[in-house]
Amino acid sequence: MSPLRSVGARLSLALLVVVATALAIVYAGLVPILERNLVDSKIDQLVPLGENLAARVPNSQTEWQIFVENSAPTVNARVMIVNPLLLDATEPTVLPLADSQSTSSLQIDDPIAVRAAATGRTQSGRLERGGKPYAEAAIPLAQDTVLVLRAPLEDTLSNVELVRRRLLLAGAVALLLSLALGYGAAYLFARRLRRLERAADRIASGRFDEPIVDRGRDEVGQLAAAFDRMRERLAGLERARREFIANASHELRTPIFALGGFLELLDDEEVDEATRQEFLSTAREQVARLTKLATDLLDLSRLDAGRVQLDREKLDLGAVARSICREFEAVARAKGHSLETVLDGSADAVGDEQRTIQIGRILVENALLHTPRGTIVRIRAGRENGRAVLEVADQGPGIPEPQQAHVFDRFYRVDGGVTTGSGLGLAIAKELAELMGGAIELESGPGSTVFRLTLPPAA
Ligand SMILES: Nc1ncnc2c1ncn2[C@@H]1O[C@H](COP(=O)(O)OP(=O)(O)O)[C@@H](O)[C@H]1O
Ligand SMILES: [Mg+2]
Repeated sequence: MSPLRSVGARLSLALLVVVATALAIVYAGLVPILERNLVDSKIDQLVPLGENLAARVPNSQTEWQIFVENSAPTVNARVMIVNPLLLDATEPTVLPLADSQSTSSLQIDDPIAVRAAATGRTQSGRLERGGKPYAEAAIPLAQDTVLVLRAPLEDTLSNVELVRRRLLLAGAVALLLSLALGYGAAYLFARRLRRLERAADRIASGRFDEPIVDRGRDEVGQLAAAFDRMRERLAGLERARREFIANASHELRTPIFALGGFLELLDDEEVDEATRQEFLSTAREQVARLTKLATDLLDLSRLDAGRVQLDREKLDLGAVARSICREFEAVARAKGHSLETVLDGSADAVGDEQRTIQIGRILVENALLHTPRGTIVRIRAGRENGRAVLEVADQGPGIPEPQQAHVFDRFYRVDGGVTTGSGLGLAIAKELAELMGGAIELESGPGSTVFRLTLPPAA
């Protein structure tokens, strides 16, 4: 990344521009105002002093020189009495009639004195003489003469100059400071962002172990926290994926090994017919187990990929219960169970009929498998709390309380139970139910286990 593209460089540049603009505004606005105010106040001081003096100018012209020489120190300015109307283009300089300083000529362009004589009113202003600035007040006297007070502005202006230089210096320091500060802050900021970038790369390459820490409470801190939540979630998913693959391969391997063993035994010439038949029947069981496992795994992978298409049609849970009952009648009888159907009024639901039957099969299969001979399995359809319900109840040993939360996990089997299943049935049933906007609840204790599927009711 080019250095000028970095957030740090951009931030410090922006800060620099802001500070420089602020300084320029202060400088360009403040210094001229200060100068004007100081000069104006100097001029304003001269006017009353001059008017005071004008009232005391002696009548006799011969006393004027002494008068101006005596007055000059009291007003702290050069005092002159001139007749500016004597000046014209042909006569650019004339001597003042009286002058507190060693006599010099009055130049033609003293517009203040000329204005005073012409208008007959006091005039004041600023003017340059010999390259130096002066404040001047001109008070008209009798007969076109004018009393002029002229005070140098050099001291005042040098003060302004001092302020100007100080301001420039302070400005330069402020600029440097803002640059350093801006760059420093931006550097820290950019470093945190780079840390996040590295963390994201780490996650992208599949390493979820290292937590992402950023102690800041600002947006970057929040981003880091969000990243860390993502990392934990991905780590969990990755763990589940590995576990799933390990479990699935283990489940597949067991029946395949068994089948391999039977095939070798059947190859043996000396096996008698009865044993051969027994082997064949066990091998068929293993093939059935493998087929069921493959179907379950396929279902789960479709569920994971979100590729299970579900109908939203009106279906009668009573009919579902009857159909499952018919389907399992023979199996139940063979296992010594009695299978009953109870219909509690209308049980119209909205959902996918085939998938609902699939859930019912999973529940009934479990109830027949995990309970002792001679017990009753009851399928009930009805309506409860405004929901359509399909319930499968058995009289088996039940599922211990601590395990109840796990029976819906993939590959989970309760220890000590029948171990022919793969532990996928309830996981599939639960996901299907939730996809249809329903749920499966479990109530179990010794002698009674009830799995209850609830679905949205039909209007
Ligand atoms: N009706 C039931 N009575 C007792 N235990 C049950 C019942 N239904 C399920 N279980 C327990 O829950 C576990 C998970 O069930 P399931 O997901 O269908 O897997 P599988 O039946 O293939 O083992 C079973 O292994 C069994 O231990
Ligand atoms: Mg099962």
